[in-house]
Amino acid sequence: MIIAIDGPAGAGKSTVTRLLANRLGFLFLDTGAMYRAVTLLALENHIALDDTARLADLAREIDLRFDGDVVFINGEDRSAEIRTPEVTRKIKTVADAVDVREHLVALQRKIAATGNFVSEGRDQGTVAFPNADCKIYLTASTRFRAIRRALQLKEAGKNVTVEEVISDINIRDYNDENRPVGRLMKAEDAIEVNTDNKTVEDVVDELEQIVKDRIANLADNSITPA
Ligand code: C5P
Repeated sequence: MIIAIDGPAGAGKSTVTRLLANRLGFLFLDTGAMYRAVTLLALENHIALDDTARLADLAREIDLRFDGDVVFINGEDRSAEIRTPEVTRKIKTVADAVDVREHLVALQRKIAATGNFVSEGRDQGTVAFPNADCKIYLTASTRFRAIRRALQLKEAGKNVTVEEVISDINIRDYNDENRPVGRLMKAEDAIEVNTDNKTVEDVVDELEQIVKDRIANLADNSITPA
């Protein structure tokens, strides 16, 4: 089975995806980590970020492995390096490159074929898994997303104002919603869940219920009348 969760940055996707996968006994797939990994390798190998042919080669050849939250690139744990602000700032051209996306979507499908997955990203319900068993579009207002992000940064020792974070979020939203392929959008058959004012626990409860209802529905529909 595959549960596809899409939505903008800061809506809480990565936290709830992991918890939901745990509750369901599924594995989780963090597809943003894949775009981050290709960006990191491009920076380290001094590949120009507008050289889409070389970026596509990187995406095709990358040896990427996941073990829970740990991301191995070419056999090494690079979980911290893929999340630096520099990688986040420079990811746009990698995520916009059509050939890079093609290779990474193929990899996502290959991984998902190995078990039951909750997969999160921007294009999971629309491009990677249009036939997913359940699709969820997780969203939140810009202000709530910014407050969450500012709190996380504060915990990490960085003081930024909510207004500064809002301007970053607006840029990321614009980039995510306007890329040529795999742009962020709600799949027609996705259920939208807004996380404003909800605790993580509340959101995971809500998603668990949606998935269970959906599974029950699929089971009912598969019983053919005599
Ligand atoms: O989810 P996360 O913020 O780690 O994603 C990193 C970047 O990768 C984002 O800027 C997003 O635009 C891009 N991305 C993507 N398609 C996905 C997942 C992430 O373009 N399926």
